[in-house]
Amino acid sequence: MKEALMQIKEKGVAEIRSAQSLKDLEAIKVKYLGKKGELTQILKGMGKLTAEERPVIGLVANEVRALLEETIAKEVSILEEKAMLEKLEQEKIDVSMPGKMPRKGGLHPLTKVLHELEDIFIGMGFSIAEGPEVEYDYYNFEALNLPKDHPARDTQDTFYISDNIVLRTQTSPMQIRTMEKQRPPIRVIAPGKVFRSDSVDATHSPVFHQIEGLVVDKGITMGDLKGTLELVVKKLYGEDAKIRFRPHHFPFTEPSAEVDVSCFVCKGEGCRVCKGEGWIEILGAGMVHPQVLRNCNIDPEVYSGFAFGIGLERLVMRSYDIDDLRLFFENDVRFLKQF
Ligand code: PHE
Repeated sequence: MKEALMQIKEKGVAEIRSAQSLKDLEAIKVKYLGKKGELTQILKGMGKLTAEERPVIGLVANEVRALLEETIAKEVSILEEKAMLEKLEQEKIDVSMPGKMPRKGGLHPLTKVLHELEDIFIGMGFSIAEGPEVEYDYYNFEALNLPKDHPARDTQDTFYISDNIVLRTQTSPMQIRTMEKQRPPIRVIAPGKVFRSDSVDATHSPVFHQIEGLVVDKGITMGDLKGTLELVVKKLYGEDAKIRFRPHHFPFTEPSAEVDVSCFVCKGEGCRVCKGEGWIEILGAGMVHPQVLRNCNIDPEVYSGFAFGIGLERLVMRSYDIDDLRLFFENDVRFLKQF
C-alpha cells in the first residue's frame, strides 16, 4: 500500500507540474483528491490493514495528500501570475506613440453672431426671453394688430397647424407674451427660429432666425430706439458704423422704420457686398403701437416703448460675405470650419 502511495505521489506531482491551465489542475485535483480520486480510494482501503500498519500508512497518506495539495496551490498561483502577466502585456499602452488628435467642433456662425449680440444687449441691461415656435394665431397676428382678414398676413406665407395655431412667422409674438407676464420697465430680447413657406433659394429659407427686441417704460421715445441700435451697431461693426432709418409700415409699430447699417466693407462707398448701395438693411423697428400696449393691459397714456426685429441670417451673411443662405443649413463642414 505504501508502494501505491509513493506512486501516486510521484505521478501526481509530475502531472501537476506539467499542467498547462487552471482547468488542468482542477481535473488533476479531482483525479487524486476527489471523492472517487486515487488517494481517496486507498484511504478507504485502510480498514483492511492491521493495527500496526494503520498509523504508519495513515501518516504517509496524509503526507502525500498534503504534498499534492500544496503542489497544486503553488502551481495555481504560478499559472495565475502567468495569466496576469500575459494580460498586462496585451493591454500595454505605448505612451510614446503619437496621440489621436480629437476633432474639435466649433460654433455655427449664426450661433457665434447671436452670442455676440446677446452679450451686447445684456451689457445694456436687457434680459433674454425664449418662446414657442408653434404659436397661437392670437400672439403671432391678432394681438399685433393683424386681424384674420388683414392683407399684411399675405406677406408672411404662414404654415398653419390649425385655424388658430401657426408656426410663428416672426419673433414679434414674444412682445405680447413678455408684456402679458411682465410690467414695465421692460427690456428684453427674444432670439429664435421663425418659419415661412418660402421655397429654398440663395436668399430664402422656410426656417430662419430673428432677434426680437422690446423696451417699454415711461417716456421711451424714438430717440431711445435710435440710440440703442446705434450703440449695438457700433459694438458689432466698429465705431465708424452708422445707421439709417427709412420709413416703413408694420401693423404693430407706429411710426415704423426699416433700419440700414452703413456697409462695413466699403464704409458707404458702394461695393459688391452692399450691391452698390453703401447701406445694408438689417432690421425692422418702430414705436410699439398704442393698441398693442392696450392688448396687454399697459396704458399707452402712461407708457411707451420701441420694438425691433433683427434678421440674423442676413446680418451674418453680410458680416462674413456669405452669398448663399443655404450654406447655413447644409451642415457642410468645409463651410462651417471657416468660422
Ligand atoms: N416682425 C417684423 C418682421 O418680421 C419685424 C419687426 C419687429 C418690425 C419689431 C417692427 C418691430 O418683419
